[in-house]
Parts: sequence; structure tokens; C-alpha cells
Amino acid sequence: MRLRNVKNKEEIMKNSSLLIVDYPSKKNHWNEEFNNNNPIYIEIGMGKGDFILGNALTYPDINFIGIEKYDSIVAMAIEKIEKNNDISNLRLLRMDAKDIENAFGKEVERIYLNFSDPWPKKRHSERRLTSNTFLKKYDNIFKSNKEIFIKTDNIELFEYSLVTLSNNGYVFNKVSLDLHNSDIQNNIMTEYERKFTEKNIKINYLEANKNV
Ligand SMILES: C[S@@+](CC[C@H](N)C(=O)[O-])C[C@H]1O[C@@H](n2cnc3c(N)ncnc32)[C@H](O)[C@@H]1O
Repeated sequence: MRLRNVKNKEEIMKNSSLLIVDYPSKKNHWNEEFNNNNPIYIEIGMGKGDFILGNALTYPDINFIGIEKYDSIVAMAIEKIEKNNDISNLRLLRMDAKDIENAFGKEVERIYLNFSDPWPKKRHSERRLTSNTFLKKYDNIFKSNKEIFIKTDNIELFEYSLVTLSNNGYVFNKVSLDLHNSDIQNNIMTEYERKFTEKNIKINYLEANKNV
């Protein structure tokens, strides 16, 4: 992602009630933060937030948490979300996903990974958000219901993810190599998805789950 420095990002982040700074204190207590026992779905690498915002508005009975590692991008997401909406079922975390076990106990029911960085070099493969390293971390934050939904333009990352997910006990409920020409309904677009679609680049999609 091209990173524009948002000059007043610290101020935007400091003044936002959407952003949870002290996320370790929420671990095992997210239901209290949301004041209900609704399911928790998270998006790792939410970018500027179109997808998580669209989901939060569409599904008010689900609690959504968007995670993003760069301050400037989080600040842009906050501005976008706060400009239009006052929503109670959405929170944001400025966090690198490698720290995810410090934010959640066994509380999460679904993880969305949209257009994750592909890390094409083999020596960086453990940085991919579907590497064994990350899938093991996700095991520690999932409740009994464990779902991972992925969208990507990158076929190598998609194939890699099919293998790692399968090796880690996931089964696939939906797989498409061309999401927008499939019968999969109710798709909510991300920023990257919109750009790729304008260029006629096909979107790979999967829904995986394991119940152990
Ligand atoms: C290619 S962009 C996709 C953004 C958005 N999901 C979309 O589809 O438009 C990948 C995003 O993931 C974020 N990201 C990458 N690795 C991350 C990590 N380990 N933890 C949190 N965010 C991460 C990047 O900063 C970037 O905003």
C-alpha cells in the first residue's frame, strides 16, 4: 500500500472513541466493551476501512474489529468512519497482527484477510498472514467456531493459503477464482478490490472453517 503520511494522525487517533489503544486490557473482555454477547469478527490489515465499515453497517448484530499496523492508515480509516457514522458495533486497533494473542482470548469467530501483503520471497513466507506461524496464533484467539475468509488478487498467495489452511485442519466451504463472476452473494468491496476490479483483475475468494 502507498503510504501517505497523515500529518495530524496522532491527534486523530487520540480523539477517536473507535480506536482502542489499551487493547491488552480488553483481552477476554470484548463482550463488555461492546456491552453484548454478539459474535466477534475481525479483519486483519483493514486498510482504510471500507470493508469493515460496510460490514458493521450491514450486520448490526455482529461486533467487528478492524486491525491495521500503520498509524497513517488507521487515521484515514477513523476519519472516513467518523465522518458518516455513529456505530456501536465497530472498533479499531492499531496493531501488528503478530501481537494478536495479546488482544484476544478465545473470543473471535471469524477472521477476514483481504488483499493481504503477499511476501513473495520464500525467506519471508512466515510473514504471510496465512503462514503456519499466524494460523497457530489464530488457534489461540478463536472460539469453538473458527472461520477464515480470504480475498486476494494474488494467485500464489491464494494457492499457498489453500495448502496451509488445509494442513492446519480447515475445510473449504466456498472457493472461487473469480469472485465477481461467481454465485457468491452479498460481497462487500474493499479499496483494493475496487482498484483491481476496475482493471479487470480477477479476485480469488475462499471461505474456510474448522470446528475442533
Ligand atoms: C494491500 S493492503 C489491503 C488493504 C485492505 N484490506 C483492502 O483490501 O483494500 C494490506 C494492508 O494490510 C496491512 N497489514 C499488513 N501486514 C499487517 C500486519 N502484520 N498487521 C496488521 N496490518 C497489516 C497493511 O498496512 C495494509 O494496510
